[in-house]
Amino acid sequence: KEGWVMACPTAALDREDVVRFDYNRRTYAIYRTQDGKLYASDGICSHGNAHLADGMVKGNLIECPKHNGRFDVRDGSPVRLPVCVHMNTYPVKALNDQIYFNPE
Ligand code: FES
Repeated sequence: KEGWVMACPTAALDREDVVRFDYNRRTYAIYRTQDGKLYASDGICSHGNAHLADGMVKGNLIECPKHNGRFDVRDGSPVRLPVCVHMNTYPVKALNDQIYFNPE
C-alpha cells in the first residue's frame, strides 16, 4: 500500500476540469466534475495513446481528445464509442487546499 500522495493545489482544478498527474512512472488524470466533486483515473485512454487530461470534462464524463470516446469519471466505465474498455479509478480527496491521490 502506497497511501496518500499530494497531487496538486485544489485551486488547480475548476469545475468540469482535469489535470494530469504523473507518479511512479505512471500517468493519472484527476477531475473535478460539474457538482464540484473530485475523481481520479488512469491518465491514458484505454482505446489509444491519448492523455485524458487533454480532453474535456462534461458533467460526470471525460471526453477523450483523440476519437471523442467518453468515460464516466466516477467509476471508469466506458459510455461512448470507440472506448469500450473500463479504466481504473482511484481514491482522491481535498485537505488543507491540496488534492491527495491514492494509487492503492
Ligand atoms: Fe481515446 Fe481513441 S484514444 S477514444
